[in-house]
Order: sequence, then structure tokens, then C-alpha cells
Amino acid sequence: YVIGVDLGTSAVKLLLVNQNGKVVEEVSKPCQLFQEKAGYSEQDPEDWVKQTIAGLTELLEAFNGDAQDIEGISFSGQMHGLVLLNKKGHVLRRAILWNDTRTTKECEEIETRIGRERLLEITKNLALEGFTLPKLLWVKNHEPDIFQQAVRFVLPKDYVRYRLTGKLQMEYSDAAGTLLLDITKKAWSEDICNALDIDPDICPPLIDSHTEIGTITNEIAQVTGLHPATSVFAGGADNACGAIGAGVLTEGKTLASIGTSGVVLSYETSDDSDFGGKVHYFNHAAPDGFYAMGVTLAAGYSLSWFKDVFAKDMDYETLLQDVGSVPIGSNGLLFTPYIVGERSPHVDATIRGSFIGMDALHERKHFTRSVLEGITFSLNESIEIFRSQGKKIGQIVSIGGGAKNEYWLQMQADIFNADIIKLQSEQGPGMGAAMLAAYGCGWFDSLQSCADTFLKEDKVYKPIEENVQKYKELFTLYRSVYPATKDVC
Ligand code: XUL
Repeated sequence: YVIGVDLGTSAVKLLLVNQNGKVVEEVSKPCQLFQEKAGYSEQDPEDWVKQTIAGLTELLEAFNGDAQDIEGISFSGQMHGLVLLNKKGHVLRRAILWNDTRTTKECEEIETRIGRERLLEITKNLALEGFTLPKLLWVKNHEPDIFQQAVRFVLPKDYVRYRLTGKLQMEYSDAAGTLLLDITKKAWSEDICNALDIDPDICPPLIDSHTEIGTITNEIAQVTGLHPATSVFAGGADNACGAIGAGVLTEGKTLASIGTSGVVLSYETSDDSDFGGKVHYFNHAAPDGFYAMGVTLAAGYSLSWFKDVFAKDMDYETLLQDVGSVPIGSNGLLFTPYIVGERSPHVDATIRGSFIGMDALHERKHFTRSVLEGITFSLNESIEIFRSQGKKIGQIVSIGGGAKNEYWLQMQADIFNADIIKLQSEQGPGMGAAMLAAYGCGWFDSLQSCADTFLKEDKVYKPIEENVQKYKELFTLYRSVYPATKDVC
């Protein structure tokens, strides 16, 4: 057996997986979020550790076997979050998360001091509020006392792994999202550190995602019931692990994942493209791979926001059951999901969402459908960027909330104009983490052969030509909303 731990934003989810890829036990433990000011989003790293240990303990209690048979553990983690450590390895302040947008000024500072072109050349990405470097600069600018005590920064899952093993490292797929990594050289960029007066020693040692970094500590073994010889493998960024867990491991394969945020991610073999910074470009957690990725900040979050405000007592199934009776285009209602700003393609933390075309005849079901359409149009903007660079979008594997509803799956096929694959058992990034452990343990000679054993297709949703045409027209309308509302909201 292996364990995949996925440190998400709302919860830490743990999967115990056998050698056939079957999930034999799973546990989820919630994590607390602090949003004390507009744009702020923080978590307490101690809470992650506490909930991970509690989750492991529950998993072991439920497990009907010998702890010695659990060979390895690996991790997937929410990206970009800044965890600052002092020289004793203690946390200096709450972690500032990926969806915290307080750092607009720091992003400007980075672009001015390094230059947009040079930044793109080194990191393949532009300075965005969500990335780690702007957060590091924010602490330097606003909390100099804390910054002075900081000797290391790490990302969320690296901190949890450190507490379970006593070893502190970062792996490339998460390091790529810091804006401090030279993506091609796979090394911290001294140029960037120097330009911003940051001591390069604050960056942790780098390792590969499937590297065995050691075993859990005796103390953790005692508390959780795990065997002290359980191997620990580095793991990867949640989006990279989501891709692995969906078998997105070859050129032409694409992932559409709708969680709180939504991403479309395409596997890339080379380090020579960057899509001009319009979408992110990161090292994959699969050896030597890369991926391009567009992010919709509020994907599932738009739907949960809508439900909480307008249909609080309904479950999702009931809320979505009428969506199929509403025609494509929601009878003239159009939604843009910019309720917390938008990343791809607009990179605009201040834009806000809209419902356009409201009519007295519209009912809740029209609004619900338009929310699904708006989220999917937003993801399609990133797919269009991939296509405009000549990328062939073959099959798209859909995971997360978008894969839980038949109408939404067909809508993705029609809007993306591509075959959408639904997997039999879809476990998201936690499965990718488990696969990294399985590969690290030597069960398979490649992640692809692990995917061949672990992952099974359930159904393929094919685009319906008539729908594709209707959505094409609506997508043009959707695209006109951003420039028209930019100065209004
Ligand atoms: C990716 C991003 C989010 C987080 C969510 O750039 O910020 O998808 O990784 O956990």
C-alpha cells in the first residue's frame, strides 16, 4: 500500500491505495482559513500538521491490515503559499496563501526591478499576486522584524513533510510556482534574488518529486500507527499531482480540473515555450516534463458562492437537476466568474463578475446554468491560448466538481470542442501523490505504467456539432464582457 496526502485549501485529504490503484480507505480533515481583510487569505501551518497527523491516525485505525505493508507516503499541496521559518525551523507567521491578493505593489516592484522580458525568460511566468516571491517581498516590506528572522521559506506541503520527517526540501513542481526558480536550469535564480535584495540561502534545497527523502520520525510513527520504516517521497504541486492522477503524462493530453479554482493544464515536453506569460508554465512532477496551465480563480467557488447566497438549503444535485431543461445560453443570461478577480487570461485582481442580460422571465435554473457556462467559458479562454500557439488539444480528462455532473461534462465537450474523458474513480491530486509514492517505491518503471494500471476510463463525452456552433457565438459575447466591464466593476 501507499498513502497519498493532498493538502488542499479547505481540507487535507488522505488516500490509502493498494497495488492495483484501488482506494481502500480515505479520510478528509478540514483546515481553517483566515480572511481577516479584503484580499487576505491565510492558514496556520500548525493546523495543517495537526490535521494531517489526525488524518493519518484515522486512516491507520480504519485500515484492516498490517502497518508494515504501507510502504510509502507522498504529498500533493496547494501551490504558492509562503511559510517562513526561523533558524530553529519554527514558523514565524501564518502562511500567506495562493488566493491572497495583497501583493499588487510587490508584483509591480518585481517587474520594474527585473524587467518583464527577463522575468519571463528565467521563470517562464509573469509576476502575479498569487505567486510566492511577491508574498516574500510583502513580508520584507511590511513586516521587517519577521523577515529579518527568516532563514528559510517553504511551501505548504513541504512544511508538513518536514514535520513528519525532520527533513526540509522543496521539489521542482512547487518551486516552479515561486517565481524564484530558473525553470530551464532547475536552479534558484541568483539574478532574481540579487535584484530584489533577497539572500539566496533563504531558498531550500531542491529535489525531484519521486525522490525518497527518508522515513517518518519515530514520534510520528508512534502517534499515527505507521511503521517507522515508512518511506517518504517528495510529492508535487496539487495541479501537477492532479495531472498525474488523471494520467496527463504525454503531449496532447490535457486536464480540466474544477475545484475551488479551476485549471486547464496541458502536458509539455520542452522548456522552450512560455505562451508569453498568458498562461503559467511550470516544471511537472513527472520526470523531465513541463506543463502549461491557465487558472480561473473562482471556478467551483463561483458555484458554491451562488449556492450559498441563493440556494443555501439545497444540495448541489438538487440545484443542478434543472440545468438540462434550460437551453444553451441560459435564455440570454451570461455570467462572468470574476468574483475574486481573474488570473487567466486577464491577470486582473480588481475585476469583478457580472450577470448580463437579466430578464423578468429568468428563474433560478437560468442563473445556475449561466454560472456553469461562465465558468466553462473562462476555462476555454486558456484552451484558446493553447490552440492559438498551435497546440493540438486531443483528449481532455475532466476531474473535480465539473466531472460530477453529466450536463456539465457534455457542456465541457461542447465548449472546449474536444473529447472529454471521465475516469471510473476520480481521486484528484491525492491519487497523483499516491502514484508518486508507488513509482518511488519501485512498483512501476514509469509513472505512465503506473497510470496504465491505476486509472480506468469510464466514459467519453463527444462534442455535438450543433452545440459547438451555438457556444462559439456565445463565447464571442462572453469575451466582450471583460473589456466592457473593466472600468465599471
Ligand atoms: C495554481 C493555484 C491554485 C492552487 C490551488 O497556480 O494557485 O490552483 O494550487 O490549490
